[in-house]
Amino acid sequence: MTKPFAPSCERNQAVILDALQSIITVDDKHLLEIGSGTGQHAVFMAAHFPHLNWHTSDLKENHVGIKMWLDEAKLENISEPIVYESGKSDFPDIDVDIVFTTNTIHIMSWQNVKNLMKQLGENLKTGAKIIIYGPFNYKGQFTSESNAQFDVWLKQQEPHRGIRNFEEIVQLMADVGIDLKQDIEMPANNRILYFVKE
Ligand SMILES: C[S@@+](CC[C@H](N)C(=O)[O-])C[C@H]1O[C@@H](n2cnc3c(N)ncnc32)[C@H](O)[C@@H]1O
Repeated sequence: MTKPFAPSCERNQAVILDALQSIITVDDKHLLEIGSGTGQHAVFMAAHFPHLNWHTSDLKENHVGIKMWLDEAKLENISEPIVYESGKSDFPDIDVDIVFTTNTIHIMSWQNVKNLMKQLGENLKTGAKIIIYGPFNYKGQFTSESNAQFDVWLKQQEPHRGIRNFEEIVQLMADVGIDLKQDIEMPANNRILYFVKE
């Protein structure tokens, strides 16, 4: 198997890192990444936060690829991937300070999004940070023509996929005691939603 590569990670990693640097502090010790994908973000980001233990996770089928990136990077602060699939898995048993996830909320089904939020509410400690990157709709409207086209493409791949409504995500999180702190505009019609468990 050749090492997997996602061109989108190359494009967005620097701007995501900028946002993370404004949120992550030296007091944050454990970060859980949900849906690590290829593992590229983990390798790029963790190198900039040597004090942080970066826990990768994804469906089992993606672990070989993630391990290829981790083996090559040889960073001491990244952990081998955990099997985590919202809707099927228990929440990882780690005392996490931060949950980080990119481009997963429009991929998993709405039921699995709701399940993930419920698990965050049940498992995270007070003060834990949740950072979600990806495209979102506002008041049911796409923020660009390219996002509208992307949504059509997503649903062609799997009918349960699709760009989610910002307001519904914020409400789901509020329902489990997690409050929106910042909604950060990112390039290419993406956002970073930064929440804190109260
Ligand atoms: C578009 S990829 C994004 C990967 C990576 N985070 C990135 O930004 O390149 C979506 C990821 O979500 C994962 N995923 C899909 N369904 C999931 C679920 N129910 N729970 C957790 N992860 C899921 C996929 O395996 C995949 O790695």
